[in-house]
Amino acid sequence: MRVTVSVIKADIGAVGGHTLPSAETLAVVRDRVTRAKGRLLIDAFVCHAGDDIGIIMTHTKGIDNPDIHQLAWEAFLAATEKAKAQGLYGAGQDLLKDAFSGNVRGMGPGSAEVDLEERPSEALMVLLADKCGPGAFNLPLYLSFADPMYSPGLMLSEGLHDGFTFHIMDMDHTEGDRMIVLEAPDNLYDISALLRDTNRYAIEAIWSRKYPNEQAVAVGTSRLRNIAGRYVGKDDPPAVVRVQKIFPATEEFGPAFAVGPFVGGDTRGSHNLPLMPVPMNTAASTFFCVPTVCALGLSMHEGRLTGPVDLFADPVFDAVRERIADKAMEMRRQGFFEPAMLPMSELEYGGIVSRLRKLDAQWTIRNGAKDATPTQVEAVVHGDDPD
Ligand code: 13P
Ligand code: MG
Ligand code: MG
Repeated sequence: MRVTVSVIKADIGAVGGHTLPSAETLAVVRDRVTRAKGRLLIDAFVCHAGDDIGIIMTHTKGIDNPDIHQLAWEAFLAATEKAKAQGLYGAGQDLLKDAFSGNVRGMGPGSAEVDLEERPSEALMVLLADKCGPGAFNLPLYLSFADPMYSPGLMLSEGLHDGFTFHIMDMDHTEGDRMIVLEAPDNLYDISALLRDTNRYAIEAIWSRKYPNEQAVAVGTSRLRNIAGRYVGKDDPPAVVRVQKIFPATEEFGPAFAVGPFVGGDTRGSHNLPLMPVPMNTAASTFFCVPTVCALGLSMHEGRLTGPVDLFADPVFDAVRERIADKAMEMRRQGFFEPAMLPMSELEYGGIVSRLRKLDAQWTIRNGAKDATPTQVEAVVHGDDPD
């Protein structure tokens, strides 16, 4: 059976800061979505990751379906009314447009959708992150889908042996977002060269090479800053990941997420801190909004969901969290000094940029312009390696 899994998420306001949605706003979303079960939807599940509400839906309408997107949009809109009535912080934060126009993309909420031919045992993982951008999944997904050190299935299973196709988005190109499609392992070094820059490049999708009709991953790559034209909050991406058999096993993702890579986001969207795997329905961290990710394990049959199992709630992840908390605390000791605070080009808050502009008039030139020598230029043109 052909089924679409749609995950649509939004921050519509939170209690006492950017922490978590209220029980009442969650209930509004849950109620709307539950009423659509058996009609528009086959099944659904609602939870939160920090201050973002995630709606997981299964249906037969395909991706980018206006009715599915409208259902989520209206659920978030109704919850925003409740958030306003409760005086929640940032009520309606991610709802950036007034009128629904057929798709939540470009309107603020994030979405990740996979349309699939259901396997006899369809195993899925839904990822929901808070206080980070879409590139936050780059390292864990790279390790799970392209590195046999973390993903031994690439060596041990014929289904994975041909590798995977990475669809990577350049989120910061002057002419708008652009895409590139690269194969792992053949183009591994090119994939690496892009994914290392998590602020600019993000995995948008991963597909099987041996079974070219089988999509493994969809990541929501919409960026609030591009829609609003200013900082209104972090993107906090969702993802759908299919697991087992022709894809990496659920447990192969664990060590990859346990790395806790430094990613941009955190307080005021302006810092680097390690991505911490947490149980679902965890409030954002009061410790400088350490970015968090939860993972829901689900089984699906004819679109009906069983689960979720809370994949980062197991005892090993308590030890992982302690180590990542140490990493975060160490980074915070250096306050605003880079790389604890993002470089100027990535700062989400305009304040510091306008402040420096005001200082422009006070600078005095000391030594005149220093041009590169002809031999230095030559070395760059010919690609000679510097020592
Ligand atoms: P959210 O994007 O999760 O709302 O966080 C915004 C922020 O600036 C936290 O400091
Ligand atoms: Mg918020
Ligand atoms: Mg958030």
